[in-house]
Amino acid sequence: MIAVEFKQLTKSFGDVHILKGIDLEIQEGEFLVLVGPSGCGKSTSLRILAGLETTTSGDVNIHGTRVNELDPSKRDIGMVFQSYALYPHLDVYENMAFGLRIRKTSDSEIEERVTKAAEILKITDLLRRKPKELSGGQRQRVALGRAIVRQPRVFLFDEPLSNLDAKLRGEMRVEIKRLHQLLGNTMIYVTHDQVEAMTMGDRIAIMNGGIIEQLASPREMYAKPVNTFVAGFIGTPQMNFLEGEIFKNSNEAYFKSGSFRLDLKPYKNNSAFEDKQKVILGIRPEDIFDSNHAPNEISKENPLDANVELVEPLGSDILAHLVCSSVNLTGRFKGDSQANAGDKIKIIFNYDNLHFFDKSTKLRITN
Ligand SMILES: Nc1ncnc2c1ncn2[C@@H]1O[C@H](COP(=O)(O)OP(=O)(O)OP(=O)(O)O)[C@@H](O)[C@H]1O
Ligand SMILES: [Mg+2]
Repeated sequence: MIAVEFKQLTKSFGDVHILKGIDLEIQEGEFLVLVGPSGCGKSTSLRILAGLETTTSGDVNIHGTRVNELDPSKRDIGMVFQSYALYPHLDVYENMAFGLRIRKTSDSEIEERVTKAAEILKITDLLRRKPKELSGGQRQRVALGRAIVRQPRVFLFDEPLSNLDAKLRGEMRVEIKRLHQLLGNTMIYVTHDQVEAMTMGDRIAIMNGGIIEQLASPREMYAKPVNTFVAGFIGTPQMNFLEGEIFKNSNEAYFKSGSFRLDLKPYKNNSAFEDKQKVILGIRPEDIFDSNHAPNEISKENPLDANVELVEPLGSDILAHLVCSSVNLTGRFKGDSQANAGDKIKIIFNYDNLHFFDKSTKLRITN
């Protein structure tokens, strides 16, 4: 069943167009992540879904019913915001019970729901504390608890972890995923952190400037980005992009960018190109290898000469900033690579994971 549906959704504030025709179907029980740069319209989309903002045109459907004009309280949605202001004078129990009391839920029902939510979130022993006596992560859990006790069919999260430090964020990320497995509700999660998007989402919708650039599973998004925006947004460090031209005749096929030249004979999709086609070649740092330390399955043909400018050790891997015939590349080498700044090394590209985009449309050319 489709839990949430946007049909040609638009939103303008005056003559500023924020959402420019969003089509999106979210399945019941799915964990969908909306990700994109600041100002692209993520929060606006969630607020429209929750009924806190009106649409300019288009339909919003929840569980098959059009809800454009439906009161927020009737939408069966629980929302957790970035700034999850708890009531400072109420203890944890009462903070969680607050929404239910407003709805005139009975005391016994409230007790049952709060107790259960507290168990799920492992905050049972904190129920009588005030918010100021809690850590950031504990407060975040109370904010989640407030949404859980209402037992909504759809949860909306708007950057709920951005106030937490990196370690807590990592922990809460796992907690929310676990919560999703346990409750099985539909969850829509907004973030501008692509690591959160990749690790949490069943599917990811990448937004940019009021449109959805790509909607896909994290693996698909990483392996086959539809355009240079998505390719550059997903993956750290960022994919290397080289602008250049394809040269192709009956004898040879290669990509050229200034004095940089990559033989495309070993590339299985080179039939997709035309001679003199202007393209952008994308290659992820993890698809560039130090030729002395490349895994066996990577072809050692066509090594390229590169100068190592700078090395950043990451523990298990090293990031090598390289210059290869006038182009700058970042390679992510396994920790056993001995590359050091100033070295001249040979590198190889993983031909299975080359990405080509049309230079003018920025769209993916090859599969
Ligand atoms: N009430 C409003 N009136 C006018 N412009 C608004 C209003 N609300 C949002 N906007 C504008 O709409 C655009 C999208 O805002 P939105 O909050 O949806 O972005 P976002 O993707 O959530 O960004 P962030 O990652 O920074 O939270 C922004 O340019 C913002 O300035
Ligand atoms: Mg926002």
